[in-house]
Amino acid sequence: MLQKVVRSTIIDAPIERVWAVIRDFNSHDQWHAVVDQSRIEGGERSDQVGCVRNFTLKDGNHIREQLLTLDDREYKSTYCIVEATVPLQRYVATVTLKPVTDGNRTFWHWESTFATPPGMERELRDMVAQGVYEAGFENLRHHLRLGGDLVAPGQRRAEPLPTALPVPCRRVIVRGYGGPEQLVAVDGEAPAPRAGEVRIRQRAIGVNFFDVYLRRGWIPPLLAAGGAPGMEAAGTVLDVGPGVVGLLPGDRVAYLGPQPGAYASVRTVPADWVLRLPPEVADETAAALLLKGLTAHYLLHDLGRVQRGTRLLVHAAAGGVGLLLCAWARRLGATVVGTVSSDEKARLAREHGCEHVIVTRDYRFADAVQRAVGGADVVVDGLGDAAREQNLAVLAPRGHWISLGQASGPLAPIDPDALVAKSLSFSRPVVFDYVATRAELLQRAQALWAALADGSIRLPPIERHTLESAAAAHERLESRRTSGAMVLLA
Ligand SMILES: NC(=O)c1ccc[n+]([C@@H]2O[C@H](COP(=O)([O-])OP(=O)(O)OC[C@H]3O[C@@H](n4cnc5c(N)ncnc54)[C@H](OP(=O)(O)O)[C@@H]3O)[C@@H](O)[C@H]2O)c1
Repeated sequence: MLQKVVRSTIIDAPIERVWAVIRDFNSHDQWHAVVDQSRIEGGERSDQVGCVRNFTLKDGNHIREQLLTLDDREYKSTYCIVEATVPLQRYVATVTLKPVTDGNRTFWHWESTFATPPGMERELRDMVAQGVYEAGFENLRHHLRLGGDLVAPGQRRAEPLPTALPVPCRRVIVRGYGGPEQLVAVDGEAPAPRAGEVRIRQRAIGVNFFDVYLRRGWIPPLLAAGGAPGMEAAGTVLDVGPGVVGLLPGDRVAYLGPQPGAYASVRTVPADWVLRLPPEVADETAAALLLKGLTAHYLLHDLGRVQRGTRLLVHAAAGGVGLLLCAWARRLGATVVGTVSSDEKARLAREHGCEHVIVTRDYRFADAVQRAVGGADVVVDGLGDAAREQNLAVLAPRGHWISLGQASGPLAPIDPDALVAKSLSFSRPVVFDYVATRAELLQRAQALWAALADGSIRLPPIERHTLESAAAAHERLESRRTSGAMVLLA
């Protein structure tokens, strides 16, 4: 005999918001606590009828489910189990949403029918009713609360109307490769989002040393003269293109992406780059931290495998990436040594967890590091050529030189024989390869916001400039006068 489970609830959020989450057939590992990891098979879209989600539960069970119907007008979807290690047979479920009275609250109805092996009817009915549906209602509430989506009764949410037209904006472009004076503000347009794209009214734009390399013309394939630099920003979604799941007009978001163009008041970008921001993370904080914080995360946790006792040397320790690295590495138990160019920067680096600070303007640090800690297991080097010989001298046997950037000038090729004497390794990573999948981007961003909330990292000082004065911002960054992060306000 077929078993039937029916549950319903009211969610204090507009139906569009709840539906934006539910209609994404692969979103459940982001909000349902029992789901560990989920992926859509065969690279299909997660709102494509017929797609199969393949997921594991936290208890180790493994399930494949197929999306059978998806109705955006009726807010209804059905799906069935194709294969499972739990003994739910012929399981078909339906989710239906309905707006409640003023439309700011949502009625959610979830039901299913299934067969079970004899004697397991009650146990499996309870598991579906409580473990999946009731827990799912609570978990989705929690998820929406984190995103600031639960509304007080009567509260109305401002949602700008989507438009198919380009939106006028201000952009800062590189007129021709060269110095900061080459950055000029011009009028431009942000095109209407196409399939899979999102248009964002940007409030804060992160400035990174990478933008300087682009402006100087060091990476012409990435930025031609006339283009806008900038790899990250935060703001509010204006409108979304077809097929975008999980993002709505009015959502507060941030993004980073491998194509420059962020120095603008409005920008249209792939939705895959974009994350919704938790309410406690302000736009300026997100723009100051996202790229630099995700960089610190992959450097410490993946590439550098920094742990208790690791002797970590951080160059430009009072810089945007530097301060985050110092604090987070210290929390992981590393012994942190940093180089900075002034006493003021030394004080700031110490405040952020750098135990041994070496003040030098001419890239001579090897002797001081040897005296302080006897050598470095990992060097995070954003300086480049001027620090090259001293980096080789300071590394301990089996040490790892991570060449992160080249603020002092392009690093000349390394002779492999320079590494063999101490069995050294050398790597040249780029953050975008460490957030190449959406799951990895979301997971690293969650770790970053959690680290900020639990005090593992402290918000660095943020230097603010207007978008129009991007040239002055670059001038300061290159003159070594800044510490912490820098944002442009649009
Ligand atoms: N590969 C990646 O994934 C990735 C991601 C993010 C950043 N990065 C790199 O990480 C480094 C830090 O980036 P950031 O954006 O946080 O910048 P930042 O550290 O805030 O600014 C650069 C710092 O480099 C130091 N510096 C030394 N010599 C310099 C010179 N000749 N000109 C200018 N600065 C000089 C200065 O600190 P002192 O005055 O204290 O020496 C300066 O404050 C950069 O090399 C950047 O390209 C790489």
